[in-house]
Amino acid sequence: MKSSLITSILAIATSTTLAQFTVQSAPFNLVVLSQNETYNGSTLLACHEGAAIEGLCLSTTLPGSTAVPFNFNTSTYEQSNLNPVIGEQGYITYLLRGGNFNESEPLNLYYSATSNVALPLFEPTQGTLMAFDENGLLNIQGYIDDRVPPPYNGTLTAYYRWYACQTYYTGYTYTTLAWVNGEYPPQNPTCEKIDVKRVFL
Ligand SMILES: *[C@@H]1O[C@H](CO)[C@@H](O)[C@H](O)[C@H]1NC(C)=O
Ligand SMILES: *[C@@H]1O[C@H](CO)[C@@H](O)[C@H](O)[C@H]1NC(C)=O
Ligand SMILES: *[C@@H]1O[C@H](CO)[C@@H](O)[C@H](O)[C@H]1NC(C)=O
Ligand SMILES: *[C@@H]1O[C@H](CO)[C@@H](O)[C@H](O)[C@H]1NC(C)=O
Ligand SMILES: *[C@@H]1O[C@H](CO)[C@@H](O)[C@H](O)[C@H]1NC(C)=O
Repeated sequence: MKSSLITSILAIATSTTLAQFTVQSAPFNLVVLSQNETYNGSTLLACHEGAAIEGLCLSTTLPGSTAVPFNFNTSTYEQSNLNPVIGEQGYITYLLRGGNFNESEPLNLYYSATSNVALPLFEPTQGTLMAFDENGLLNIQGYIDDRVPPPYNGTLTAYYRWYACQTYYTGYTYTTLAWVNGEYPPQNPTCEKIDVKRVFL
């Protein structure tokens, strides 16, 4: 019963919002770069955070797990404002393998109103647009800068606000990839600054 519900949620999500991002890259691993040797060189693994929901756990904190590669889906339409230095925007995807179905899920930032630490989750929903820059580093891009008054619509800029943190989501506590909203430090004291690099297989 549970899996048929998931299948129908997935079907709705796929048919309505994700249809146009169907140009899929070759498979790759996501590797952590950090000044902190505890995490440097760790691979990001999809880890269970709920029904059809996976976070990105650091392999060094989950011994014995093997990495399942991800893909990157870009649009069939050319990005009009494309800056090749910061990279084309698209969705990181993970192939969820069920008993009798496979579903490609995009990576989505899950925000909490009470924390500045957001959790990237693969979910059967609309994803969050991300990009890989010319060095293969994962970023999120935006125009609006409200750090100086008055806020203005500037040029498309890449941000690299990735951290490895102990995160909690629906009963699961892991060391995962996290994103910090805005430029202030993460309020979660376990967060260590990292970058995320795409390494093709
Ligand atoms: C990614 O692209 C592949 C190939 O076109 C497609 O099968 C898949 O559904 C796409 N995934 C998402 C989340 O859009
Ligand atoms: C992190 O790992 C990379 C690749 O293995 C290495 O080149 C770099 O020196 C390491 N950085 C630190 C701070 O350990
Ligand atoms: C590296 O990260 C671990 C885990 O958060 C932390 O215990 C350690 O103090 C950090 N090391 C440095 C040099 O900051
Ligand atoms: C799911 O994908 C895997 C790997 O691509 C494939 O071996 C398997 O047959 C697929 N399962 C279904 C139900 O399509
Ligand atoms: C900011 O500027 C870009 C490029 O000119 C435009 O596409 C976007 O809609 C603007 N955003 C807002 C909120 O005005």
